[in-house]
Amino acid sequence: MATDVRGMVSADGGLVDRQIFSSEEIYRQELESIFAHCWLFLCHESQVAQPGDFFSTYMGEDPVLVTRDGDGRVHAFLNVCRHRGNRVCRADLGNASAFVCAYHGWTYGNDGKLIAVPSLREAYYDELDTSKWGLVPVAQLDSYKGFYFATFDAEAPPLVDYLGEMAWYLDTFVDRREGGIEVVGGVHKWIIPCNWKFSAENSGADSYHVPWTHLSGVTAGFTRTPTAQKTAQGTMVSPGNGHGLLTIGPGRSAEPPVQAIDDYEQSIRDEVEARLGPRSNLVQPIVCTVFPNFAVARASARAFRVWHPRGPDKIEAWSWSYADKAAPAEVKEALRASGLRGTGPSGAFEQDDMDNWQECTLTSRGFMSKRVPVNNLMGLGHERFDEELMAGASDSRYSEINHRAFYNRWAELMERGRENAG
Ligand code: FES
Ligand SMILES: [Fe+2]
Repeated sequence: MATDVRGMVSADGGLVDRQIFSSEEIYRQELESIFAHCWLFLCHESQVAQPGDFFSTYMGEDPVLVTRDGDGRVHAFLNVCRHRGNRVCRADLGNASAFVCAYHGWTYGNDGKLIAVPSLREAYYDELDTSKWGLVPVAQLDSYKGFYFATFDAEAPPLVDYLGEMAWYLDTFVDRREGGIEVVGGVHKWIIPCNWKFSAENSGADSYHVPWTHLSGVTAGFTRTPTAQKTAQGTMVSPGNGHGLLTIGPGRSAEPPVQAIDDYEQSIRDEVEARLGPRSNLVQPIVCTVFPNFAVARASARAFRVWHPRGPDKIEAWSWSYADKAAPAEVKEALRASGLRGTGPSGAFEQDDMDNWQECTLTSRGFMSKRVPVNNLMGLGHERFDEELMAGASDSRYSEINHRAFYNRWAELMERGRENAG
């Protein structure tokens, strides 16, 4: 019987029961009700650009292999051998026409078909129908502006509906110039001892912590972002479905403190506004979360990241640096270096955040301390639907409107999952 989470998030989202950050049982329910139903980020198209390219990732705790087959079609499969369940592909990424299981040698084409079984005649009397034992595909696979997403739910709405108004806000990060973006460098992967929701809610976004948590990095000059200043200017944007974004509004810079990046941004400003339309005059995006665990940032670095859950008190963080494809090489390099300094595993800002998320997680394990609810009351009753932004919005960047939207969405999906489970 699934745990009843009704009441663990208050109706307005302002109070959250801290058990949801430590309970093993609730975590198991999340894997089903959240991670097996939502659209989850897989990889960027540049990572499977050529026929035969593959990229290994996870959807929740399920290992998933993304491939581009010989005909150029992109697939996503459970990276699980159909024989004894061994993980078929152990490499992070590469190019291969086939994947050979390390245990007994079953071999799969990059289209997922089972193409070879050792000793098929002697072991299976030629009675194994190999056409039925290919890799298990995800239920739906789609891409948006070069980002591949998949879901295990065949009944899930199309990706574009799942993103809804968030799609345009993603454009403000990744579709500013012809050609979109490209990944610069590889993927940083590291473990953070925290619940996945603390990283997700922080990305989508928590502007209130910046001048405090990141004071040392700000003082040392690692960023020029105005969110580091103690002014409330800016807006939390809540486009629905639990997604969230922080914008600091028009005409304000959030760039890394690098002259080449400033000059580049100045030089493309008119082009970006023309491409994104009049709404872009209102928006200077800083960071966002696509529910549940995909984030894009452009404060002090350009990064997109996934918070892969690994239990109630652990995540595997994956982080990529990116740049406009049309940007000059020196700007791409400056952005890569900014990413290392700011949002890599040893980045000035990442270290601050990890420490806080870890402690918030640890205190939710205590018998008494987990009875003290999380307080998401900031700005409650002061939010509005903004016709120009076409989204819920706060009056200032000091608001937890997006936290409330995130946990309301979480509760809705958890409750739906419990009902479906009977
Ligand atoms: S587990 Fe893969 S071949 Fe046996
Ligand atoms: Fe932070």
